[in-house]
Amino acid sequence: MDRRDLLKAGAAGVAGTLLGALPAGAEPSAFPPGFLWGTSTSAYQVEGRGDRRADSIWDVFCRLPGTIADHSNGDIACDHYHRYPEDIALMARAGLKAYRFSISWPRVLPEGTGQPDAKGLDFYSRLVDTALKAGIEPWVCLYHWDLPQALQDRGGWGERAIAGWFADYARLMARHLGDRVTRWIMLNEPSVVAVMGHGLGEHAPGFRSRAKMFAAMHHQNLAQGRALSALRAAGGGRFRLGTILSLQPVRPGGGLDANRPAAAMWDALWNRAFLDPLFHGHYPALIEPFAAPLVQPGDLAEIRQPIDFLGVNYYGPMYQRADPAGIIGTNWGAMPADMKKTAMGWPVDPSALVELLVELRDRYGNPTIYVTENGAFYRDRTGSDGRVDDRARIAYLRDHIAACRRALAHGVDLRGYFIWTILDNFEWAHGYTARFGIVQVNRATMERTPKESYDWFGAVARANAA
Ligand code: FCB
Repeated sequence: MDRRDLLKAGAAGVAGTLLGALPAGAEPSAFPPGFLWGTSTSAYQVEGRGDRRADSIWDVFCRLPGTIADHSNGDIACDHYHRYPEDIALMARAGLKAYRFSISWPRVLPEGTGQPDAKGLDFYSRLVDTALKAGIEPWVCLYHWDLPQALQDRGGWGERAIAGWFADYARLMARHLGDRVTRWIMLNEPSVVAVMGHGLGEHAPGFRSRAKMFAAMHHQNLAQGRALSALRAAGGGRFRLGTILSLQPVRPGGGLDANRPAAAMWDALWNRAFLDPLFHGHYPALIEPFAAPLVQPGDLAEIRQPIDFLGVNYYGPMYQRADPAGIIGTNWGAMPADMKKTAMGWPVDPSALVELLVELRDRYGNPTIYVTENGAFYRDRTGSDGRVDDRARIAYLRDHIAACRRALAHGVDLRGYFIWTILDNFEWAHGYTARFGIVQVNRATMERTPKESYDWFGAVARANAA
């Protein structure tokens, strides 16, 4: 029996056996019935252009020199546009019950507003039908970073009118898919869009401006609120509405007390500037002075919305230090010297996930939560037998899934776990150099090869199926 079979054998028994020795704590022996196992992708990262798709800000950003590590782009990506039946079959074979994907806004609305493209709409209709047929629930995310360039030309997230454009687009999608789709996600990680896209210039549209960063923060919050109301009205009670945040506990760089204010500031920007308005109807005090010039009467009431679930994307904590030259007086700080890291250089800290989930329980009224992204880039090794050995990824997943079980034991209302991600794909500024998939994609042939983590994760999902 080789290692892979051993894993399978473990999974066939009790999930606790499979998960191995868990860190101390009161873990339930298995996940509760109905706990949902799924995977997430995003349009720009996997689809490719397909038949036709108007430019998004990422197409334009990729053409700028020096933006993408390997000078690549999403023109082909994983060609999911054509190969989605095979990809959905892979999900089904792994026992996954939910597929979260995003709609490419410029594919369905080339101008961002106005006349939809029938071919673009039809693609998502077929995708939804194929998932449903495979017994997989489609979770539709409306915005995963690929804004139509036509809207960027009109001011993009810097322009307040985008709240209306986004709500109209949400209504359009509800009209086309709402007979089959009940799960709707407004935004993916608005903090990344604001900070990396508008503040630090590392993502599209590539601005380095504090003013643009805060405008993007507020207008995303506003757009999200308006789209939530629009879909609540459109769904007639059938829709389950939510949004997704990248949440990362923030620690003082170098463990220094002197960096505590910097950590608090970054926490306010990265986490609370999105959580507090949504759940409490106000910006955190540290963000208030920056938000005030943007907030108009009625905005905060529109942003504060009941949601059916919060999606949490979790990869690791962040470290910040004081730096007067930084975008808000802070900068990346040193993590503990003994911290384990992924090949991305990101810290591996599953216990910070428990801490984060428990904090959400306490501060925001125990919302229903799904971990909508978690996963890691490690360099895979392909053996002479063609097997893709990614045991480092398996260890990462095992420890984070164990953390989810600990959070459940603490009374967190956690309902599911979506792995990032099924396929190696276009990892934004890293291009194709950073690979998070549990399935390898040959860039020349597009051939899909499941890695050992695919078998492992499938075994976990099946062992814990409802
Ligand atoms: C998240 C993004 C996702 C992917 C992972 C690694 O921040 O939502 O698209 O890039 O990171």
